[in-house]
Amino acid sequence: MHSIDRTSIGGIAAARIAELRETEAAAFRKARPKSEAKVGNGMAGFLGGVPMHWMTDWPTPFPILVEGAKGATITDIDGNKLDDFCLGDTGSMLGHSPPAVARAIRRQAGRGLTYMLPSEDALAIGPLLQQRFGLPYWQIATTATDANRFALRVARAVTGREKILVFNGCYHGSVDETMVRLIDGKPVNRPGLAGEFRDLTRATKIVEFNDMAALEAALANHDVACVITEPVLTNSCMVLPAPGFHDALRRLTRAAGTLLLIDETHTISTGPGGYTKKHGLEPDLFVLGKPVGGGVPASIWGMSEEVATRYGAYNRTKEPGYSGMGTTLSANPLQFAAMRATLEEVMTEEAYAHMDRLARRLDAGLTAVIDRYHLPWHVARVGARVEFICALGPLRNGGEAEKAHAPELEAAIHVALVNRGVLIAPFHNMMLISPATTAAQVSRLIAAFGAVAARLAA
Ligand SMILES: Cc1ncc(COP(=O)(O)O)c(C=O)c1O
Repeated sequence: MHSIDRTSIGGIAAARIAELRETEAAAFRKARPKSEAKVGNGMAGFLGGVPMHWMTDWPTPFPILVEGAKGATITDIDGNKLDDFCLGDTGSMLGHSPPAVARAIRRQAGRGLTYMLPSEDALAIGPLLQQRFGLPYWQIATTATDANRFALRVARAVTGREKILVFNGCYHGSVDETMVRLIDGKPVNRPGLAGEFRDLTRATKIVEFNDMAALEAALANHDVACVITEPVLTNSCMVLPAPGFHDALRRLTRAAGTLLLIDETHTISTGPGGYTKKHGLEPDLFVLGKPVGGGVPASIWGMSEEVATRYGAYNRTKEPGYSGMGTTLSANPLQFAAMRATLEEVMTEEAYAHMDRLARRLDAGLTAVIDRYHLPWHVARVGARVEFICALGPLRNGGEAEKAHAPELEAAIHVALVNRGVLIAPFHNMMLISPATTAAQVSRLIAAFGAVAARLAA
């Protein structure tokens, strides 16, 4: 991997990055006078000037004030149209307001929005989940964070073990017990956690992704209830599993009596059944959030026959009382309607074939730009999810990914892309292809990336 020093970031001189950021910020403002007047100084009534704190984490001088979004296009209140490759950080991976989902929501809108009782759509969803993801028992929650929390609770309940294990660089939502990091090889609470007073490393073990020896050692005491992981580490640049990783992970967890929770919230980009289906993984617990309701907040979590049996036995002996799982608005009829439409009509093989084809084209186009300008960067892809990384690759683990991040450079590129009509995800360089994304949009992204790279490399 190339070294990062103060004068060069991702192979680009720091002064050139600063200059790009400044000129692009000015261009961003110039194109958005109405937006700047409304949100340039923050939005009234909100802590920090925004309704959700990470709206200020976008690298643009102020948040893009959205007038509407359809398909894979966002329009702001100044009339600027953006080809949207961020897609709500996967929440809209299947496109903004897919017509089938919009119809289902409209149909449900007049029939009640929440009642703690099932609707007929729920009857269809159970079998759909069984067929698609291959696990027999499912529950519905509202966020992937909650689904992960509940699945981890079940894992602890059935194993009678307190500890869990995560891979360095992981993100599974704001699940407290996954918020640990390896720093200089030492497990610590993830830096920056607000109000966290516990030592999370007491009950959470952490090893590097793709380090099977470290995993084997960490499981050796047979005290870990569950390994929770994404099949590809997508929240740490993008780290692909080494050949044999998943086989070894499954073998080692089984040998240690440890359950395996696969979180497919991002890797559902792989196909309609996620990475799990495509690669024949055999998780005990499975989580999918964000896009599963086509943009309506919804998540699902499933378990194997064996886990369900053990959980049943556990429940028969557990003292009566609240399980600590469930939120009031979960499994509501709006979610059922949206999820059914998403599963039946949007997450189809044909849609994924289109997404995959365009993602391949994007991967090749970005790689060609990187090669043309001899940049020490690389591109990684899992199905319809593509990411450029401003460091050499491939990356093997979260520790390497941490060093590969180039926040100043990435921020300058992001704003420059917006000014060229393209929106990619903040915090990382993720680009998603939806069923609604067109070849022309992909070509525009490649051209915009090429123009920005040319400026940086000049
Ligand atoms: C892999 C993974 N799991 C879970 C989550 C949490 O999703 P949510 O914020 O909707 O709870 C995220 C969020 O980015 C994620 O990337």
